[in-house]
Amino acid sequence: MFKVINKIGKSYDLNVALVFDGGVEICEHISAENRALIKRLIDKKEFSGKKGEILKVDFLEKENLISMALLGMGKEEEFTFDVYREVMFDFLSKEKGTVLISSDKAILSNHEVLGEIVSNVNYSFDTFKEKKAEKLEVELFVAGEEKNISETILLGEATDIARDLVDLPANIINPITLAQRVVELGAKYGFEVEVLDENDMEKLDMNLLLAVGRASITKPRLIVMKYLNGKNNDEKIGLIGKGLTYDTGGLCIKPADSMFEMKSDMAGAASVIGAMCAIAAGKVERNVVAIVPACENAINENAYRPGDIIKSMNGKTVEIINTDAEGRLALADAITYAVRNEKVTEVVDIATLTGAIMVALGSLTTGVFSNCDEKYSMLEDASRLHGEKVWRMPLFDEYNEQLKSTVADIKHTGGRMGGSITAAKFLEGFAEGLPWIHMDIAGTSFNSSVKWVKKGATGVGVKALYSYVKNR
Ligand code: BES
Ligand code: MN
Ligand code: ZN
Repeated sequence: MFKVINKIGKSYDLNVALVFDGGVEICEHISAENRALIKRLIDKKEFSGKKGEILKVDFLEKENLISMALLGMGKEEEFTFDVYREVMFDFLSKEKGTVLISSDKAILSNHEVLGEIVSNVNYSFDTFKEKKAEKLEVELFVAGEEKNISETILLGEATDIARDLVDLPANIINPITLAQRVVELGAKYGFEVEVLDENDMEKLDMNLLLAVGRASITKPRLIVMKYLNGKNNDEKIGLIGKGLTYDTGGLCIKPADSMFEMKSDMAGAASVIGAMCAIAAGKVERNVVAIVPACENAINENAYRPGDIIKSMNGKTVEIINTDAEGRLALADAITYAVRNEKVTEVVDIATLTGAIMVALGSLTTGVFSNCDEKYSMLEDASRLHGEKVWRMPLFDEYNEQLKSTVADIKHTGGRMGGSITAAKFLEGFAEGLPWIHMDIAGTSFNSSVKWVKKGATGVGVKALYSYVKNR
């Protein structure tokens, strides 16, 4: 629960004042006696407001027991919103009940960033727990006019939708139930949803996607979401999210430890679904089509095999090398559908695509690939705005050598070296020259090392995609 107030009308379990290092000032509303008490404590504890430093004081003010905390934000000249995110997440994660936050400094009273952190603190995947987590209630005091925080709240809600979809296990979320949930979300948030089943996809020759999902009892679905509100805008942004509801690796089966987290292999899908909820409910004036190739990489006697040659929707033949590199196959046909059938003018795909991106960047930073400097820089700005770290990766054409096949037009994996780059090169071909961005979130979508996000699903990409679509 998060609110911004401009009048204080109730009492709180804790009153927090945010201060910069060396800039501690005590609120004027407090009696002279109590101010003296606080000053004495500040001197005694040598509190100056270093990053994360906390001074708690309890005192009686007009017979009311007040609990106050001074919270240090470090040096003003070293301040960034990432410092704020880190300190606030850490601090609020340990609190309970109702908390009032205020500061003399306008920059420390930013409701967008505080709202984002409160929603991170309050997120918990407790659907299957008898005991539900308690929610912290945070109010931010900002003097003056009332603030409109609907966008902040909406982005928190959209991120939670994505996180829930990722945290929900594969016995609940399969291609069919995922499609059903998107239909419900479309009705609730205001975007159109069309679901293609396996027969529709066969007619369209989406053989790569069908092959990946063939061994599962729940067959693939292509989930197409549309929000066309671009007014006189002829842009049509295509967002494509990898929707592997589970990835066993297929016949090239994963070892148990690596398989364990693979309910999260639809995190890219969750991000575009969450972003669509926010874009539609926020009435963003853009044309957006989001596409999720939803399938499960399972194993039965009908599974696709290493050595198979499959014709993609765009006509290229693909030699299957490793059935665990399934994501790029599902995405390839989805990108072709976006380009040819939906006539998008640009493509952004987001996917838990490679373990190799985790070797390169760990679980802190999303690897981003793009054939367009301008769009890349827009995405970088949109990500930074929400504290999501991204780093651009190379796409030199020499990497295509690793994808040459002797029996088909292309192989779908290029060996261990540069594994996330060859995966990106494979996808690039399907964007058919349109401006294209590929985000590899294998490291950042689940159990990331971002300091202000809990373990489990992170919802990475929801806010970045929202702002990427909106801020242009
Ligand atoms: N879904 C995985 C990638 C992944 C790994 C996501 C770890 C999250 C955490 C993907 O389908 C995969 O298995 N990729 C293989 C590709 C390889 C066989 C070329 C990989 O990275 O090992
Ligand atoms: Mn895989
Ligand atoms: Zn996968």
